Amino acid sequence: MTTTETPAKTPFENFLSEHGEEAWSATMTTLLRSIHDVDKNAAQIWFYFFPLSLFEAFAHADDPELLAQRLLMRGNCQLKDQIDTSHTFLYGHRYWPEVKSAVTNHATSFNLAEARSLSDQILSVAQEVARKSKVDPSLVVGITAVAFMTMQQAGLGAFQAPGKMLLDKKHARKSPDQVLRERAKDDSQGLLGFLKTIDKKWTVTYDENDEAAKYRMNNIQDLAWGAANDQSRNWREIDPRRSEGPIPVECRSASCGTCWVGILGGVEKLSDVAAREGKKIKEFGYIDTAEPKPLIRLACQAQTHGAVSIVIPPWNAVFGKYLRSLKQSLPEGFESKTPVVNKQDPVASNDHCN
Ligand code: FES
Repeated sequence: MTTTETPAKTPFENFLSEHGEEAWSATMTTLLRSIHDVDKNAAQIWFYFFPLSLFEAFAHADDPELLAQRLLMRGNCQLKDQIDTSHTFLYGHRYWPEVKSAVTNHATSFNLAEARSLSDQILSVAQEVARKSKVDPSLVVGITAVAFMTMQQAGLGAFQAPGKMLLDKKHARKSPDQVLRERAKDDSQGLLGFLKTIDKKWTVTYDENDEAAKYRMNNIQDLAWGAANDQSRNWREIDPRRSEGPIPVECRSASCGTCWVGILGGVEKLSDVAAREGKKIKEFGYIDTAEPKPLIRLACQAQTHGAVSIVIPPWNAVFGKYLRSLKQSLPEGFESKTPVVNKQDPVASNDHCN
């Protein structure tokens, strides 16, 4: 085999590649019932952060560079580059070495003739990990689903390569209930706090693995304005998209899609999605829902009246319209597998996900 040849897919990889976005959506709906509350939001957020349809668009593009420019892609959306780190915000991340090993074994011993549904296979591997790790299966179902999708996007070869796991020791000792209690807790406003109205202050946690990853903001202020006051680190050095504070921002008016975040805890303390945020977030491609308080928000639009825990994705782009046009060009009932990149209309150059 020459270095430019792609290795043949294993039977398990072929099985996974038969599952498109809709099949995965049905699988996750089934699995959510078996995922512990501590990871229910986190698992859904992870699947929004790494959409299969976008991965497929890049995998089948004639010119991925051009597609990245066209979609205004900035940052890194490729799971193959972050196999062991994309999911640090899941509680189940602490069991990643065991999950990775079990999913690799499952993939290499897979027999298509005996294959069960995708959700049954994920549950079965999660139960095996739970038994060996002596934990409740509900704590590892979400991270096992993440591992299956990571293998689908990155391939078995890259998936099973040794990697470095990031986990804060203090956070690793916390129980699921403790994490849930911390997410639900609001800041004390002092002895006369009940008299305060607009001058209340709230804490936003933007990385639960890092004790210092928090900023304070004013009551009914949007998440991005609050973040801009946090000058505790050299944000551009950490991520060139971060021009000020931990949350990447550009327009502050729901026009660019840079500031999208996932809401791990406190989703009910945010303002309802207003008409413009709802319309634009769908155009960007991040989420398509009429829910007033979804798990994905634009930080420049979502105002808070309480403490919240958020996750910042490693990339941003504008791809909703593009993926919808690909889907509409396919016959009914046929999920996108071979999208074609239109070589017209390139836009400004950006960092992209390759
Ligand atoms: S900063 Fe542009 S959409 Fe929020």
